[in-house]
Amino acid sequence: MEKKTFYLTTPIYYPSDKLHIGHAYTTVAADALARFKRHQGYDVMFLTGSDEHGQKIERVARQHGVSPQEYVDRIVDGFRHLWQTLDISYDDFIRTTDERHMKAVQQIFQRLYDKGDIYKAEYSGWYCVPCETHWTERQAGEEHVCPDCGRPVELVKEESYFFRLSKYADRWLKFIEENPDFIQPASRRNEMISFVKQGLEDLSVSRTTFDWGIPVPFDPGHVIYVWIDALSNYITVLGYGSEDESKFRHYWPADLHLVGKEIVRFHTVIWPMMLMALDIPLPKKVFGHGWLILDSGKMSKSKGNVVDPLVLVEKYGVDAIRYFLLREIAFGADGLYSEEALIKRINSDLANDLGNLLYRTLTMMGKYYQGQVPAPGKEEDLDRDLKRVAAEAGDKAEAAMERLEISVALEFIWELVKRANKYIDEAAPWTLVKNGESERLATVMYNLAEVLRILAVMLVPYLTHASQAIWEQLGLPGKAADQGWAARKWGLLSPGVQTRRGAPLFPRIEVDKEEKKTVSESVTPKEASEKISIDQFSQVELRVAEVLVAERVEKSRKLLRLEVAIGEERRQILAGIAKSYQPEMLVGKKIVVVANLKPAKLMGMESNGMLLAASIPGEGEEENISVLTVDRDIASGARVR
Ligand code: MSP
Repeated sequence: MEKKTFYLTTPIYYPSDKLHIGHAYTTVAADALARFKRHQGYDVMFLTGSDEHGQKIERVARQHGVSPQEYVDRIVDGFRHLWQTLDISYDDFIRTTDERHMKAVQQIFQRLYDKGDIYKAEYSGWYCVPCETHWTERQAGEEHVCPDCGRPVELVKEESYFFRLSKYADRWLKFIEENPDFIQPASRRNEMISFVKQGLEDLSVSRTTFDWGIPVPFDPGHVIYVWIDALSNYITVLGYGSEDESKFRHYWPADLHLVGKEIVRFHTVIWPMMLMALDIPLPKKVFGHGWLILDSGKMSKSKGNVVDPLVLVEKYGVDAIRYFLLREIAFGADGLYSEEALIKRINSDLANDLGNLLYRTLTMMGKYYQGQVPAPGKEEDLDRDLKRVAAEAGDKAEAAMERLEISVALEFIWELVKRANKYIDEAAPWTLVKNGESERLATVMYNLAEVLRILAVMLVPYLTHASQAIWEQLGLPGKAADQGWAARKWGLLSPGVQTRRGAPLFPRIEVDKEEKKTVSESVTPKEASEKISIDQFSQVELRVAEVLVAERVEKSRKLLRLEVAIGEERRQILAGIAKSYQPEMLVGKKIVVVANLKPAKLMGMESNGMLLAASIPGEGEEENISVLTVDRDIASGARVR
């Protein structure tokens, strides 16, 4: 059977500037959707590209002292590099300076003209060059600024061709009424309806005062308005208006145009009206997502607050950046970007939840089964609950992706990650080992490996590296991305596969010194009490430490050797808790240590600090020891007082 098609586009980007993390947001979101659809088995066409003509680019090139063509060539290479770095799996990259595009746009213009939908007149009005948008006297207001971006507009008075937008208003309103899902989210649809109901003026679609654009075929003194040129990319890339329209017939109408909210008007009013005039079916959906904003407002070059995605990827890795963009911001709404929020997500969701689940599981698999996944035995309620959560996480994530709620899909997947971590604590494999419950141990360990396999499959659209790394550490052949979404079904893991624990998926990020200072500043001594003074107490430096490594000490029944991180410092601590704790129970935990204790030697090894643990007084039995942990995600190094 022929696969169903799914045609998905991002806007094509202006090469007027370096792309920042806000731009990457649209493309990463589109990439996750494209990968998800491929995973589901669709024949996906995922398009991105560059929007290279217009007055804005011409001016920027001039400022750089190069020709527009030289300028755009250089920048567009940078785009491709960035998309490659972010693992953007586009199927085609269109440049509006491509011969294939320019010829087809001329065809489109000609068709509209032949139909009588384009006519020549005089344009007199205001123009915003950064937005490449026309505004009327009323819209520009007394201050003559762009209603969209607030920058000054320029007066334009020239001969121009016009497109009869006004002719299509009624047909458009009827279409929107019959296709309520066309513009999403719904709030943007309502905005557009009132915009069109206010009355539309015909649109000026050619310029004569500069020449960096596609010439009007029948009047070469004019260049085609850059938005008419740019919007056409969605069909020219498929060969519309060329000798070979087979791709156009195959993929059109587009299933989804993904755009930022400030360009929804172009995509939901002008573009559909162009298509109506050309007698081409309209795309199925336009989704206007929100902006990524910094505390200082929307990211933009003129505000000087841009964040370079290449620098972030270099620092934190592709998966972390993709995850943050997809998870942190409810798709459709605006979201705040801060490096602090990014680090928080990495440490809690990726390092702590997902990374530790893999690390703990494979450590135990190595220890109990030399890495080989055992065959499961009888199922208990606990196992059934884990299976239920796994199935539900997949169902719910799939439904959320269909609704384009990417962050919600990730939330559902994390419900499984968290459930599996809890399952380890509840099933306590180390106790099963101790009690010789081998069948139960095998079931638990199989289930954990199976959850990880399912997670690798489910994470394919979002974490392009980690999903494959989990797959490989589980010892599975081929690519997680080739398994298909249906491979999330429980029970497809064959016992006997040889797992190989690798490096932790996501090393924890420690906050920088500046931040640490605020969490570690010392307490002001208070009044004396009857027992010890606060001064005396504050001489004991208690700190939160993260356990990075935990292992038994050879020839000792009591001691565990821990490597902990206290802020940026790494230390070795020996603790007499081996009878109560399996080493793998502690890895990733945030514990409390006395940091200013004089180092001591135990079994010939240095212990640099002491961890805090509760034990029941009087009984003194090591089995009743409980190591103190912190129950929130707080940076290691934080002072405890
Ligand atoms: N060239 C036009 C699109 C033409 S489509 C036929 C354009 N280009 S752009 O480079 O300015 O923007 C490309 C995309 O990046 C848009 O979807 C825009 O909304 C998005 N973003 C730019 N800054 C952004 C944020 N700070 N946050 C989220 N998305 C942002 O518009």
